[in-house]
Amino acid sequence: MSTPVKKVPIHLQSSQTRLLIKNGKIVNENEITDGDIYIEDGVIKQLGRNLIIPGGTRTIDARGRYVMPGGIDPHTHFEFEFMGTKSVDDFYHGTKAAIAGGTTTIIDFAFPKPGESPLDAYHTYRLKADGKVCCDYGLHVCLTGWSDQVKKDMDLLCRDHGVNSFKLFMCYDFMVDDGELYSAFEHCKNLGAIAQVHAENGKIIIKNAEKLIAKGVTGPEGHEISRPEEVEAEAVNRACVIAKQVGSPLYVSNVTSDQSAEVISAYQSKGVIVYGEVEASSVAVVGQSNNPNLLTSPPIRSSPQAQTNLLSFLASDILQVTGSDNCTFNQSQKALGKNDFRKIPNGVNGVEDRMSVIWEKGVHAGIIDPSRFVAITSTNAAKIYNLFPRKGVIAVGSDADIVIWNANETRTISAKTHHQAVDFNVFEGMTCHGVPEYVIVNGRVCVDEGQLRVAEGHGRFIETPVFPPYVYDPEKYITLLTEHKNGTVEQNTQNFQKIHLEQ
Ligand code: URP
Ligand code: ZN
Ligand code: ZN
Repeated sequence: MSTPVKKVPIHLQSSQTRLLIKNGKIVNENEITDGDIYIEDGVIKQLGRNLIIPGGTRTIDARGRYVMPGGIDPHTHFEFEFMGTKSVDDFYHGTKAAIAGGTTTIIDFAFPKPGESPLDAYHTYRLKADGKVCCDYGLHVCLTGWSDQVKKDMDLLCRDHGVNSFKLFMCYDFMVDDGELYSAFEHCKNLGAIAQVHAENGKIIIKNAEKLIAKGVTGPEGHEISRPEEVEAEAVNRACVIAKQVGSPLYVSNVTSDQSAEVISAYQSKGVIVYGEVEASSVAVVGQSNNPNLLTSPPIRSSPQAQTNLLSFLASDILQVTGSDNCTFNQSQKALGKNDFRKIPNGVNGVEDRMSVIWEKGVHAGIIDPSRFVAITSTNAAKIYNLFPRKGVIAVGSDADIVIWNANETRTISAKTHHQAVDFNVFEGMTCHGVPEYVIVNGRVCVDEGQLRVAEGHGRFIETPVFPPYVYDPEKYITLLTEHKNGTVEQNTQNFQKIHLEQ
């Protein structure tokens, strides 16, 4: 027997599925244009002036506002079992908060529990997230060791499960050694996947921390002392050397200092495809070494100059992406390490506030322009993880993931008003220009004149196909971009992948 279909009255159908955004300044990474956007069934159908629109379409007047691709946060940890506890933002609260701040896609990390395989971890995370997410999401998969089984799982994850990136940690008790990095990078290259690293020298950190504890330094100040900038830069350098030896692309998450950015720049000059990601907390919070709530890894650096410099590296394309590394623990969980800083669960918030704080510290401060803002908050992540041009751009055929941004309004960030589950906010009290007045997720208006109306389970798992042209063949990619002008880029991207897979 077929299930009876509930009929939706025509006027509701049209208001839900058809939307016209008029008079806005449409910002893409390469240009700003004045125009209107017509959306139907979650997809951008028309762009330009004097569009012919069906009756009953809802209109939003975006005069005086920027209309930008919704943010893509490629670094979140929702419901993450870590350091003996679990992060408090789950896939519902986390994606709801993301949308409130103008982010419409997140990419989380499937992290294997002890004894769990990467493939099983992927399934565990699909079960946690599907049905809860309010916006689209993808998954990177973490590799906490190396074996033939891990290698086979990588093959299956890339071939059948829509995964194209793998993360390896150079610190923590699940750190991998240089030989394992070498093998994993090499296999990523063969698969057309992206190798990511959390780059800090874990062995040096263990020794430094042991010495500090022996001297009686047990408080949170020991965290940054044990993990200075050069300990991060050394690991970044080592990862770049290995990527160069293997000939694989590399993505360095959590770049927190000039030293690391300069290493990345040096390897880019040598022809290595290496990308760097900066966290919102690193550009908007000055580290206070005695505050466990600000403790994350690598640490938020305590020099204000580090923040401005990171933004300049983002402006000049030495670094390409911003994320949040949202990994939230309540104050009671942070207290697990009150007698030993090594036991303070690492991580801070940022999924909700990333767009605002990058706008404030970058665009409002005059370091980056609105197009570069779009590149570093959305487009570059879409390109690297092969979601472009479906996401990361306002173009005909792209998903209707859009933020309407009022740069003249301000809001003050506070845990009292945020939508995250965590009981404090590392940006507390910061006033930001730039307020998302409307956030459209797959064509659905989820922030409507500033009011949040999300739908649990409205988001979908988004496959990230291997061999992103942007990463694996930049020259070919430029051709694709030219072809994009006549609307054929999507098809070409698919062909490109097919050719690679057949080789
Ligand atoms: O401190 C952090 N960043 N916590 C989350 C785990 C990680 O390193 O990404
Ligand atoms: Zn990390
Ligand atoms: Zn992380």
